[in-house]
Amino acid sequence: MKKFKSLVASALALTLLVGCSSGNGGTAASTGSESGASGGAKTYNVGVAIYQFDDNFMTLYRNELESYFKSLETDSVKYNVTIVDGKNDMAEQTNQVENFITQKMDVIILNLVQTSSADAVIDKVVAAGIPLVLINREPLGDNGDESYAGILDNANVCYIGADARQSGTFQGEIVAELPDKGDINGDGKISYVMIEGDPENVDAQYRTEYSVKALTDAGLKVECLDDQVGNWAQAKGQEIAANALTQYGDKVEVIFCNNDAMALGAAAAITAAGRTVGKDIYLLGVDALEECVEMVNNGEMTGTVLNDHVGQSHTAVDVAVKALNGEKIDNYYWVDYVKVTKK
Ligand code: GAL
Repeated sequence: MKKFKSLVASALALTLLVGCSSGNGGTAASTGSESGASGGAKTYNVGVAIYQFDDNFMTLYRNELESYFKSLETDSVKYNVTIVDGKNDMAEQTNQVENFITQKMDVIILNLVQTSSADAVIDKVVAAGIPLVLINREPLGDNGDESYAGILDNANVCYIGADARQSGTFQGEIVAELPDKGDINGDGKISYVMIEGDPENVDAQYRTEYSVKALTDAGLKVECLDDQVGNWAQAKGQEIAANALTQYGDKVEVIFCNNDAMALGAAAAITAAGRTVGKDIYLLGVDALEECVEMVNNGEMTGTVLNDHVGQSHTAVDVAVKALNGEKIDNYYWVDYVKVTKK
C-alpha cells in the first residue's frame, strides 16, 4: 500500500508538473480528570483544531464531531470539547496546538492547515505524550511521498480520512456513464474545465487527476480547456467558471469541481451564462452537501460524491475514545466515498 501510494504520488507530481498543457503500539492512556462539577464523573479534555471554520464541508464535519462526543457521554464519562479555528493560517494553528499541549488536553484531533508542516506539529504532540488523531488532510511529505509514514507509525498517532482517488474516479465515471459520455458536441473528445481545491491538499490533487483518469481509462479522449485553483471556495468557483465560460463558450462540455462549494459557484456562473446543466453542459462536485444533492435530483448538477462527514467524524471520535481508554489504535482508518447521481 505504502509503495503503491508513493508510486502514485510520484506519478501525480509528474502530472501536476505537466498540468493542463498535456491536453489531457504504545498505549499511554490519558488519565482525564475528576471533576466535581460533573458529579464525580471522569472528564476528558479534547482539543480539536480545524484548519478553517469558513469551509462548508468542515463545518458539517466539526458539528457532527461535537454532537457525537456529546452523545457518548454517560453519568461517569464526560467530554469537554474545545474546538478552535485555524483561519487557514499554519502559524496560528501551531500556536493553538501548543496551547492544547500546555492545557494538557487528553487527546488532540487535528485538521492541519498545511500538511507539509505535519512533522513539526506531530513531533510536539508526540513529545507531550498526547494521542493525536489527524483528520481530513492526509499528511504527505514535501515531495508528495510518504516520508511522514514513519511518524504516523507512532503508536498514538493516526489519520482518518477518505481516499480521494476514489472520489475523483467516481466523478469521471459519472460522466463516462452518461448517454453521450460527456461529448455533447460529438467532436470525439470531452472538453472540460477543472476547478481545483487547495493545491497542497492531496484531496485536490487526487480528485483532479483521477476524475480525468476515469475518462481516459474508459477509452475516452479528453481536452483540458482550463485548470484553475479555487481553494475550495464558492466565490472563487463562480469566478473561475464565469471566466472559462466567457473564454471558451460552447466548447465547455464538463466542469469538474474538486468540491461542492465550488460547484455551487460554478452552477451560478452556468446559469448566468445562459447554459443549462444536463442539456448543454455537465457539472460535477464532491461532498454531497445537502443543497447539491437536491440540485443533482432536480437536474441542476450532473452528480456529486458523498464525502461521508458522519462516518469520518464518528470514526475520529471512536478512535480518540479508544486512545483515551489506553487501547491500541491503528495508524490509518479509511471511510468510503459514495457516488451520487439523480434518483
Ligand atoms: C475536502 C472537502 C472540501 C474541503 C477540504 C478541506 O475533503 O471535499 O470541501 O472541506 O476537504 O480540506
